[in-house]
Amino acid sequence: MAHSELKSSTYDYENVAIEFDDGIAWVSLNRPEKRNAMSPALNAEMVDVLRRLEVDERCGVLVLTGAGEAFSAGMDLKEYFRKMEGASRPEVLATKRDAYQWQWRHLKYFFKPTIAMVNGWCFGGAFTPLVSCDLSLAAEEATFGLSEINWGIVPGGNVMKAVASKMRQSDGLYYVMTGEVFDGRKAAEMGLVNEAVPLAELRTRTEELARRLLKINPVLLHGAKECYHGVANLDWHSAEDYNNAKVEQAILHDAECGMQKGLDQFLEKKSFRPGLGGYDRGDG
Ligand code: COA
Repeated sequence: MAHSELKSSTYDYENVAIEFDDGIAWVSLNRPEKRNAMSPALNAEMVDVLRRLEVDERCGVLVLTGAGEAFSAGMDLKEYFRKMEGASRPEVLATKRDAYQWQWRHLKYFFKPTIAMVNGWCFGGAFTPLVSCDLSLAAEEATFGLSEINWGIVPGGNVMKAVASKMRQSDGLYYVMTGEVFDGRKAAEMGLVNEAVPLAELRTRTEELARRLLKINPVLLHGAKECYHGVANLDWHSAEDYNNAKVEQAILHDAECGMQKGLDQFLEKKSFRPGLGGYDRGDG
């Protein structure tokens, strides 16, 4: 399907619900009766959803959450593991590819800002999309766990990488090796999520953050997150070169000429202070 066709169609999925609200696309994993466990069917739908939302003007910020009382109980033990036991090698690989495609490959580099809103249970495989979102808010009451060891497996896919990229070794290994659970407050304390708030305030706080991001130049937001991930594994020399190339690329693609506006408004018009807020994206 061409990108132009992707934009106009409606979103009708069995395992994912999409709601647009004035620039925010609320994307809910929607298998509440299975605690939003990620089945192959759900993963295939999410591959499609991300492709389409990336070019859909109704989506300025994507919020990933779960329907009902779970964010996601992780990979579907029945549909993803048990049913794959007798499958052919190509089937297994194709199934895994869908999962990895949306859970980190696309999500991490999604053009628009992404926020994970962890409303409840969050286990195992769900750590990958959680960590792949740019920002994350959790309910204090949410329950997190790296439960793989409890059911006889080492965390797979990119769960371990997700853990290692966001948690200190002492915390990551503790929860990977014990399979113990922790709540949203602890997740925030460890830096796994940005912030934890009472469940009753979670949607309001998430919307407030999303609306704040919607006010910022999207070209710069994308450049900043791409650059952040890009420099992670580079040496200082390569990182500097890559970083500067990204700065120039953002200037080149920035139709609203943010840098010129920012400099003019601070240096000549004296209408704002960059240390205390953003430039006026109009002509101010
Ligand atoms: N895979 C497949 N099915 C799952 C699932 C998963 N990861 N998590 C929950 N379900 C299913 C249950 O089998 C049950 O299905 P059923 O109604 O057909 O019996 C249904 O969802 C509800 O689960 P239940 O355990 O009754 O809900 P709960 O609210 O009491 O407990 C959890 C919630 C999340 C604590 C519990 O379901 C659980 O431990 N899930 C597995 C978590 C896990 O280890 N995930 C790691 C995967 S990588």
